[in-house]
Amino acid sequence: MDTDEITAEIRTEFLDAIAGAEASDDLERLRVAALGKKGRISQLMRGLGAMSELERKRAGPAYNRLKTDIADAIEARRRVLDATALARRLAEQGIDVTLPARPEPTGSLHPVSQVLDEITEIFADMGFAIAEGPDIETDFNNFTALNIPPEHPARQMHDTFYLPEKDDGSRLLLRTHTSPVQIRTMMASPPPHRIVIPGRTYRCDYDMTHTPMFHQIEGLVVDRETHMGHLKGCLIDFARAFFEVADLPLRFRPSYFPFTEPSAEVDIGCSARDGGFRIGKGEDWMEILGCGMVHDRVLENCGLDPAEYQGFAFGMGIDRIAMLKYGIRDLRSFFDSDLRWLRHYGFAALDVPTLGQGLSR
Ligand code: PHE
Repeated sequence: MDTDEITAEIRTEFLDAIAGAEASDDLERLRVAALGKKGRISQLMRGLGAMSELERKRAGPAYNRLKTDIADAIEARRRVLDATALARRLAEQGIDVTLPARPEPTGSLHPVSQVLDEITEIFADMGFAIAEGPDIETDFNNFTALNIPPEHPARQMHDTFYLPEKDDGSRLLLRTHTSPVQIRTMMASPPPHRIVIPGRTYRCDYDMTHTPMFHQIEGLVVDRETHMGHLKGCLIDFARAFFEVADLPLRFRPSYFPFTEPSAEVDIGCSARDGGFRIGKGEDWMEILGCGMVHDRVLENCGLDPAEYQGFAFGMGIDRIAMLKYGIRDLRSFFDSDLRWLRHYGFAALDVPTLGQGLSR
């Protein structure tokens, strides 16, 4: 047989086989048989060395053409097989448009935002408006106007973060409580005032129950003839609504704050025995907030006459109260941004926009 006959025979044999291949495995076997190291074409190529130069000039290009043709045919057949396989899969796995959609992963409300919502809604129902103030405050608003003058020992109770001193020697600071917004409110407009003030506050402190940034909510009521009975009624109603215990016992314990007189701390009844913790009637008390009648000097600092106006104020830690209500042990976990923790303690977002949701940003 001469070169032409040989190439023609191999070509027919392989092209027929390729055209009849039904699976990519068959194609692969054919590729190895034709083009592999020990395949038919490689064998032919090896024969070139023994040929005369004239024969080689004819056979070489012919073999190469054969090689390309077979490789092209395999490739073309592979594309056809792939397309058929895809078409078959699509036909078999037709889309069922009646199936319910897969749930999209959604976010949840951070427990602090949730508790802030709950608190503001309770006070909104009692007729309180919401006020806010900046995180960076003047020494005057955060301390002096609140009857905490320079050198007052109460300043040491607030481990304050100060900003660098300005040319005139004054220093701004990160507010250590939400109380400076009392001052801003009373200075900005005349009474009556009935506001709650949620926001971030800062103290240089870090352990299981303290983080350098935390949240407080402040309350302020100023009007003619405001008295301690109003303060007590308001906080009792709040605590019973928030902790969802209708007969929750509350205790007003005398205390001291420079900006209120008299001052009190409020405890709620609970039982904390044998490692358990229950809010409600029990043998134990848990402190939840500080409060008092606005000090005459604070009213005067804001240009109000204490003979004409009186007020009460209260302040509480939102994170602390969230820990209590939802049994969270370590305050620091609130701010670790650990998604597993947030999924566990996070709350499903409410469908209805609420007052608080607008606030919590
Ligand atoms: N500002 C006080 C604190 O941070 C709380 C407080 C507010 C007490 C208002 C009395 C009245 O501890």
